[in-house]
Amino acid sequence: MYHKTIKPFPKDFLWGASTSAYQVEGAWNEDGKGPSVMDMGNHPKNTADFKVTSDHYHHYKEDIALLAEMGFKVYRFSIAWTRIFPNGTGEVNQNGIEFYNNLINELLAHNIEPIITMYHFDLPQALQLKGGWSNRETIDAFENYGRTLFINYGDRVKYWLTINEQNMMILHGSALGIVASDGESIQKKLYQQNHHMLLAQAKVMKLCHKMCPNAKIGPAPNISSIYPASSKPEDVLAANNWSSIRNWLYLDMAVLGRYNTVAWSFMEEKGCTPTIESGDMESLSGAKPDFIAFNYYCTATVAESENDATDKSSTGDQQIVLGEPGIYRGAINSNLSKTEFGWDIDPVGFRLTLRELNERYNLPLLVTENGLGAFDKLEEGNVVNDDYRIDFLRKHIEQAQLAITDGVKLIGYCPWSAIDLVSTHQGFQKRYGFVYVNRDEFDLKDLGRIRKKSFYWYKNVISTNGGEL
Ligand code: BG6
Repeated sequence: MYHKTIKPFPKDFLWGASTSAYQVEGAWNEDGKGPSVMDMGNHPKNTADFKVTSDHYHHYKEDIALLAEMGFKVYRFSIAWTRIFPNGTGEVNQNGIEFYNNLINELLAHNIEPIITMYHFDLPQALQLKGGWSNRETIDAFENYGRTLFINYGDRVKYWLTINEQNMMILHGSALGIVASDGESIQKKLYQQNHHMLLAQAKVMKLCHKMCPNAKIGPAPNISSIYPASSKPEDVLAANNWSSIRNWLYLDMAVLGRYNTVAWSFMEEKGCTPTIESGDMESLSGAKPDFIAFNYYCTATVAESENDATDKSSTGDQQIVLGEPGIYRGAINSNLSKTEFGWDIDPVGFRLTLRELNERYNLPLLVTENGLGAFDKLEEGNVVNDDYRIDFLRKHIEQAQLAITDGVKLIGYCPWSAIDLVSTHQGFQKRYGFVYVNRDEFDLKDLGRIRKKSFYWYKNVISTNGGEL
C-alpha cells in the first residue's frame, strides 16, 4: 500500500537498544554470581567465551553515559538470574541485587527507562543439573525469581519482558549454546520444556500485575513472517505450517491462552505433545500480556516438504532455515540480499511482520531486537565507518514508520545491540553495536569504548524522533 501521507512516530516513542547479561556483562564469577548454562563452555572453541565479554559489569556507568549521549529513552537489558540467585533458588545474593539497583538508578538518573528481560538464555547451571526446564520445579524457581525482581525493582521499572526467544531455544537450542540432551526423544523433551516455560511465563505475568499494577509485562519471542517459495498451494501450506510452529505456538499461548491447532497437530504427528497437568490450562489462560515484544532479524522462505530422507532439520543457526521432515523445507529467496553472516536482509518483511502481529493480537508492539552483525573495522583515528549498519537500520525504521501509518500500534524500537558484545555462537568478530568495544576474539586489549559512525546517526534519528533518517 502506498500512503500519500506518512504518519510521524508517536511523541513518546521508545527509542533505545538492547543487550543481554551473559553477552555483555562479563564478571562471570564475581561478587557471588553463580554459574549459568552459558558459563559452562558450550560455545564454539574458536570464539570468545562469556567470561569477560564487554566487561559492562565494570563499565556500566561509562556505557550508560554513552547511551544517554545518544538520547536513549529506554534501554533493554537482561538480569542474570545467577547474580540474584547463584543456585537458581534459595539464598538471594545481595551483591547481585545491588548491581542492578545501581544500574537502574544510573539509567533513571539519565532519564532512560529500563526495559528488563528476566531471562535471556542463561538458566542457572544448578537448575540445569536438576533437569532444567524438564523439571517442573524450575517453574516455581522462575516465579520465585520473578517475585524477587518485582520486590526489589518494581518501584522503578515499568517494562518487563519474561523470556527472550523461547521459540529459538526450543527450535535452535544448540545454536544458542543450550545443550539439548540426547537422542530420539529429544523433541518430546523440548516440547515438554516449552510447556513448562509457557507456564512459568504465565505465572510471572500474573504476579507482575498483582505486585506492580503500574508496570507492563510481555513475552519476547523472535517473530518473522514466512514466505512460500512459490504460489504453489503446497508451498503456501508449508509456510503456514512453519509460521504456526515457529511463531503462533508461542504467542497464541501467551496472548490467547491456548495451543495453536496446527502446532498441536505437528506435535501429535511427531509424538511430542506435552503432558498437561490439571490446572495448567487455567494458569495459561489466566494470564495476559500488556504488549508483545519481539525480535526481528529477517523473514524465512519455505517450500513443500519432500517427505523423504532429503528433508533436513534446522539446528545450526537461529535464522537459517533448513526444514522439518514432513512439514516444510527451507528455500532460497532470490529477492533478498544477505548479511556477511548469511542472514537474509528484508526490511519490507519487517513491515509485514508488524502488520501480522497487529492483526492477529491487537496489542501494542515493542521491537526488542533488530540489527546487522558485521565484521566492523577500527580504522586510523579511532573511527568505525559502519555505513552498512546505518543503511540496514534506516531501511528497517522506514518500514516501521510505514507500519505505523498502516495502523500498527508500535510503541518502541530497540535494535541489537547498544554496544558491541559477544554473539551467541559467532564470537566477538560479529559486531552489532553503536559503540565499538576495543577487544578481539581472544585479546582483551583495553576494552575501550569508541563511538561508531552509526552512533552519531542514531543520535540524530532519536533527537528528530525519526524525522531524519
Ligand atoms: C537473538 C538473541 O537470537 O539474536 C541475541 O536474542 C543474539 O542474544 C541476537 O545475540 C543475534 O544473534 P547472534 O547469533 O548473531 O548473536
